[in-house]
Order: sequence, then structure tokens, then C-alpha cells
Amino acid sequence: LENGQAQTPQMGWNSWNSFGPKIDEDMIRATADLMVELGLRDAGYVYLNLDDGWSELERDDGRLTANKAAFPSGIPALAGYVHSKGLKFGIYGDAGSHTCAGFPGSRGFEEVDAQTFADWGVDYLKYDNCFAPASDWVVDRYTAMRDALNATGRPILYSMCEWGVADPWLWAPEVGNSWRTTEDIQANWESIVKILDGNHGLSRFAGQGGWNDADMLEVGNGQLTVGEQRTHFALWALLKSPLLIGADIRSIHPSSLEVLKAAEVIAIHQDELGVAGDLIWQQGANRVYAAPLAGGDRAVVLMNTHTTGGQYLTSNLTVTWRQLGLPHDASARVRDLFAEADLGEATGSVTAAVQAHDVRVLRISPLGGQRSDDWRPW
Ligand code: DGJ
Repeated sequence: LENGQAQTPQMGWNSWNSFGPKIDEDMIRATADLMVELGLRDAGYVYLNLDDGWSELERDDGRLTANKAAFPSGIPALAGYVHSKGLKFGIYGDAGSHTCAGFPGSRGFEEVDAQTFADWGVDYLKYDNCFAPASDWVVDRYTAMRDALNATGRPILYSMCEWGVADPWLWAPEVGNSWRTTEDIQANWESIVKILDGNHGLSRFAGQGGWNDADMLEVGNGQLTVGEQRTHFALWALLKSPLLIGADIRSIHPSSLEVLKAAEVIAIHQDELGVAGDLIWQQGANRVYAAPLAGGDRAVVLMNTHTTGGQYLTSNLTVTWRQLGLPHDASARVRDLFAEADLGEATGSVTAAVQAHDVRVLRISPLGGQRSDDWRPW
């Protein structure tokens, strides 16, 4: 959507994956404080987004209103606090009669609700898809809120959560700044691999102002190993899915924080070329994903999904220059982006060992005059 938002995919925090609908202003203020103190804001995570559960069960004089017990100071004061921290403030609504958790939806109230959000200082709207009659076309419901947001004159990133409809990427790029491609994520390896499978081949629909959304991050949640968290994070970054932290950062483990703050992986996500990566090769448990970067570098994620009867096997994975649209006889510098270490120069291909349920993320920088960023992974 050409509304000036999401020129690179959005980064921030959202309440749902850790808290569900049980949210209140104290935890949101504490999270705002920590996003600054932990260096997350400066790493690029600028949006602080409420998900479902923030409102009263009934409208007040036709307008949405925050739950008085949980948000006694009200949303404008909370948004002001978030802004005072150098962050942006996001809220949640629904394109049907009710939100998924049963709070009032915006269908038929698009204009008044968009104006309420704008008046409150909202910078980001996640718009869910519960309780909508099938007779009411999904494109119309989402377009109505797009137009209502636009009419307020306030810049608001429009994140569509239009789950449950077929092939939304065919129409979504004109309606929203991001669209959910796949089902709700869970904090386990099977869910992450399933969502990746569902996103293969979709990179061509993404670009500046409109991104495929593989759902919010589970880094730091559940029993994911550090390798699994790296895999999840690196591939969401390469696919240019929004990076929205879903952990309780008041108690996050340092190893998860380190994954979320991997600056050179974030640089892939925020690369100004704005071309999403995709799967370019797979054999058995081994996969190669890649994307072009501004100026002619390539980002490569080597992934090992191997699990056999409790045994985890390391793979040596190779990517060739030919697979990346580079001359086979070119020399290139190779850098490991989680390790933040140069691996030296290579010609024609590079091979790296990848632990099971883990990735290696490489930046390939061709030397000399052979630098072109017009290669695409589709
Ligand atoms: C469904 C969405 O997919 C989730 O991300 C979350 O927003 C819930 N609804 C909230 O009820």
C-alpha cells in the first residue's frame, strides 16, 4: 500500500504471543522502558503494539474505549508515554462485528474507529478477521478500513491479519502494508517449519510498502532451542516478514535477546533494496534460502531441519554462485552474520557446516565489477 509506511518491513513488539488478551497499562509501560534500556529500540524495534483485549466489551457513546480497570489512564496517555520513549504506538481492531476475544469489532464503524485511533495518536493498526459474515467480501472489509485510515490524514501503518482467506497476496499489496500469509504461530519447531513451508514462493508479492507476514516472533517463548530461535529469526528476516517480538522482555533470557539483536541479520531485513528472499533449493532435510541486497550482495540462509528418532545430524551445505545469479568464476567475500565473522574469500560456491535445527546466515559480497542487484529468487 502506497501510504508512505513500511518502506522496509516493520519491527517492534506485540502483546499477544506472551499475554493473550490479559494486558494492562503497567506492563505496557514497563515494556516501553525496557525496549529502550535493553537496546531494542535502537536495534530497530520501534513499534509497541497492543493486541486483542485492550477494550471494554461495549462501545461508549458509539466509540471504542479502553478497559477502565486495565488501562485507567486511557489510551491517549499510554500512547503519549510510548511516544516519549522514542517509540511508536500500535493498536488492534477487527474487520468483523467482534474481535477474536469478543470485544467490539469495527465493521460498520470504520470511519469513527479510524478517527478515534488517529485522535489517540495511534501509529499502527493490526486489523483481525474474526466474526465476519461470509456474505461480506473480505476485500471490501479491509479496503473500508484502509480508506478510513487514509481519510484521517494521520500516517498509520496498516497491518492486515486477514487469516482464513485463500491467496490474500493477490489483492493485499494494494490494501495493506502487510498481510498474514499463514496460520497462527506457536512456540515450537513444527509450527515454524510449517509456516516457512506455507511462505515458499510468495516473495514476489512483497516489496516496499507491502510485506508477507509470517506472524509474530516466538523467539524467547516456549522450549525453542537457541538454534531453533536463530532459524526462526533469520528466516523471518530473510523473507522480510515483520519482526515483532512476542516475548515478555521483563524476563527474557540473554541468549534470546542476543538473537533478537543480531545487528547484521537485522540489516538484511532492513536492506534498502526491499526484495524478499525465498527458498532456492532443498534436498531432504537441507534447505537454501536467498535474497539480493542493495549494491549486489546476496544474503543466504543455510537451514538444516534434520531430526531422526531423537538424533540430530549436522549437514555440510553448499550454495553456488550460479544459484545466486553470480558469475561462477567470481570471487566474493563471505561473512557469517550471527557470528559477525569473516569467513574469507570464495570462488564459485561456499560450503558451511550447519547444526540440526539451526542455520548459518551468510552475506556474499562479490569482488570487482560484477555487482548487480537485479537477480531475484523466483
Ligand atoms: C488471531 C490472530 O491471528 C492473532 O495474531 C491474535 O491477534 C488473535 N487473533 C487475537 O485474538
